Amino acid sequence: MSEKRKILVTAALPYANGDIHLGHLVEYLQTDYWVRFQKMRGHECFYMCADDTHGTPIMISARNQGITPEELIARNHEKHVKDFADFEVEFDNFYSTNSPENKELSAEIYSHMEKNGHIETRKIVQYYCEHDKMFLPDRFVKGTCPNCQSPNQYGDSCDACGATYSSFEMTDAACVICGTPPVEKESEHLFFKLNHFKDFLQQWVRQHTPKEVANKLDEWLNDDLKDWDISRDAPYFGFEIPGKPGKYFYVWVDAPVGYMSATKKWCASSGRDFDEFWKGNETELYHFIGKDIVYFHTLFWPAMLHNAGYKTPDQVFVHGFLTVNGEKMSKSKGTFINARTYLNHLPPLYLRYYYACKMGPSLDDIDLSFDDFILRVNGELIGKITNLASRAVQMLNKIDSTLGTVPVEGMELIKEAKEKSETIAKHYENREFSRATIEIRNLADVANRFFDAAEPWKTIKTDAEKTRETLTTVINMFRMITVYLKPILPSYAEKVEALFVEEPFTWQSAQQIVENKKMAEFQHLAKRLEKQPIDNIVADSKETVNMDNKPEETIVEEAVENTYEPIAPTIDFEDFLKVDLRVAKIVEAEAIEEADKLIRLKVDIGVETRHIIAGIKKAYNPEDLVGKNIIVVANLKPRKMKFGTSEGMLLAAGPGGKEVFLLSPAEGAIPGERVH
Ligand code: MSP
Ligand code: ZN
Repeated sequence: MSEKRKILVTAALPYANGDIHLGHLVEYLQTDYWVRFQKMRGHECFYMCADDTHGTPIMISARNQGITPEELIARNHEKHVKDFADFEVEFDNFYSTNSPENKELSAEIYSHMEKNGHIETRKIVQYYCEHDKMFLPDRFVKGTCPNCQSPNQYGDSCDACGATYSSFEMTDAACVICGTPPVEKESEHLFFKLNHFKDFLQQWVRQHTPKEVANKLDEWLNDDLKDWDISRDAPYFGFEIPGKPGKYFYVWVDAPVGYMSATKKWCASSGRDFDEFWKGNETELYHFIGKDIVYFHTLFWPAMLHNAGYKTPDQVFVHGFLTVNGEKMSKSKGTFINARTYLNHLPPLYLRYYYACKMGPSLDDIDLSFDDFILRVNGELIGKITNLASRAVQMLNKIDSTLGTVPVEGMELIKEAKEKSETIAKHYENREFSRATIEIRNLADVANRFFDAAEPWKTIKTDAEKTRETLTTVINMFRMITVYLKPILPSYAEKVEALFVEEPFTWQSAQQIVENKKMAEFQHLAKRLEKQPIDNIVADSKETVNMDNKPEETIVEEAVENTYEPIAPTIDFEDFLKVDLRVAKIVEAEAIEEADKLIRLKVDIGVETRHIIAGIKKAYNPEDLVGKNIIVVANLKPRKMKFGTSEGMLLAAGPGGKEVFLLSPAEGAIPGERVH
C-alpha cells in the first residue's frame, strides 16, 4: 500500500431550516463510503460538515414559528445529527456556520479581499417590502412570468417555461411573506471583483474539477466574470461585515468557510494543527457537492481561499440529483422522502447498499426505483451475499461451529478474492462505487457456485471433515466480501467481525485466511426487503405535505401560493355530491404530545363517532375545541398515520401553522346533517 496520506473531506453543508431527505443522502452517503474506505486503508482521513445556518429563509422560518433563529438552528442541528448517525454517516465533526470560529474566519477572509482591492461599493435598486421592512431576495418575490405569463412564479426564474429574468420585469410582483406589492428602493452593496481572478480560475478549474464541469465553466470563463454581490442589508440573519454597520455577509460567503471552521473546532479538541489542513500541501482536500452548487465551489470559493493565502481544494467532486421512480422527487406523490421517514420503516443498510450500486463519479442523476430497490436488495445483498453466510455458518454449526482448513480447490477462490483487493480499492478511490459492488458480487457468485457444486448438504451426512473444508472456504469468501463491503455497510460488517471474533476489519484483513477457529454465535445479518414498508414510507411522505405536518419552511411559500391558487376546473353537481360533508360536534380533543402540530379529535357525526387527527395544534387549544360544531368530510378513505388512523378530515382555511381557521356551520345546524 502507498504511504500514509492525510486527507480532509467535506460534504456540502445542509441548510439548517430543512429536514435531511433521501436526495441529500446521495451526497452524504457517497462521501461516507469514500472516507470509510480511506480510513480502512490506514490513511488519516477526516470528514467535516456543518449546518448552513444563515440567510433570509431561516430568519423568516424562525419568525413564523415564533422562535429565534438560534433556537431554530439548535433544534434542527439535533435532528440532523440524529438523522446522519442513524444512517451511519460518520462525520469527524458536524458543526455550525453560526459559530465564533466561522465569524472570525469569514472576517479574516473578507479582510484580505478588502486589503487587496477586490471589494467595490456601489448602490443598487432592489425590491423592498414596506410591510415587512426588508429587502426581498428573488425567492421572496412572486408574480407573473414576463415570458410565458404563468402566474405565481419566483422573482428570478419561471418554473413553467424556464426563463430567467429580473423581478422588476414582473408586472404584478408581490412579497411572498405578506402579499403586498414591493417598492423599488436603493441601497449600498459590497461587490467582490471576481474578474480579477479570471486567469487564476481558468487554470484552476481545469486541474481541480471534473472534465464535464471544467468544459461548462470554460464557456463562463471566456467572458468577463461578473462582480459578486456579497452583502445584504439588515434585517438579515448572518454575520455583520466588519466596519460596515447594518451590512451582513451574504450566506454564501460564510457557508463554505464553514468547512474551515468545522476543521478548526475539531483541531482544537483533538490537538491537531489547523494550518496543517488549510495551508501548504501536506494534506489533500476534497469537496463533495451536488451539481447545483458548482459555481460557488469552483469560482468564488477558490478565489476567496487563494486570495487569503489558504490552500484551495485538490478536487471538487460533483454528483447528480436523485430521482425516484424515474421522476423528480415529488411531495404529492410521496416520493419526497425525509431521512427520518425512511428510518421509521427501514434500516439504513438497504439504502446504503442500493445507492452504492448506482453510484459513479459522473454528474448523471441517480434513480431510486422502488421495484429495482427491492430486486437488488433481495437478489444481491440477501440472495447472493448474506445467504452465503447464513447457509454455510448454520451448516457448520451442525458440525461444531469450528472452521477447518481451506482445501486446495478452495484456495483458488480465495486467491482470486485476495487478488481483487487492489482492483476494488481503485474503484473506491475513483468513486466508482457501482463498479466496486460489481466486483464484489462476482466474488459472491464464485463462492455460491463452489458451494452448490460441493453439495455440502449431502456430504455432511457422510464426510464431516470434507464438509468442514467446503464451508471453511465459503465462509472465508464471505468474510473477504464483507471486508470489501465494509465502507458501504459498516454495521453489517461489525456483526461479521463479531461472528469471527475479530478486531474491526481493515482493508488488509481481506488478505488473511481464518482457519481452525471457533465461530461466535450467528447473529441475524439482514432480512428480505418487503414492499409494505416502502408503501408506508410513501404514505407517510404524502402526509408530511398535508396540513397535518407540513414542513415549516414550505409554509411561507405556500401561504402566498394559496392566496393565488387558481380556481380548479369546473365539475358537475354529481361530482360535488360525491363528497359527503357533515356537520360534526367535537366531543373530545387531545394534543398529541410527540407531534408538534397534531390534535386527536373525537367527533359526533350523528350516525356515529369518528376519530380524526388534524394538524391544528399551532392554531387551537384542545380545550377550546370541545363542544364546537365543525364540518368534516365523512366519506374520505381512512388514513393510517404515525399516531393512529384518521377517519375523516375537517374543513379549514388558511395556509397552515398558526393560521388555520376551522369552518363552522351557523347557529342551529345539528351534528350529522349533510352539507350541500
Ligand atoms: N447550504 C448549501 C450548501 C452550502 S456548502 C458551503 C446547500 N444546501 S442543501 O441542503 O440544499 O444541499 C446540500 C447538498 O445536498 C448539496 O450538495 C446538494 O446538491 C445536495 N442535494 C440536495 N438535494 C439533492 C437531491 N435531490 N439529489 C442529490 N443531491 C442533492 O446547497
Ligand atoms: Zn411583505
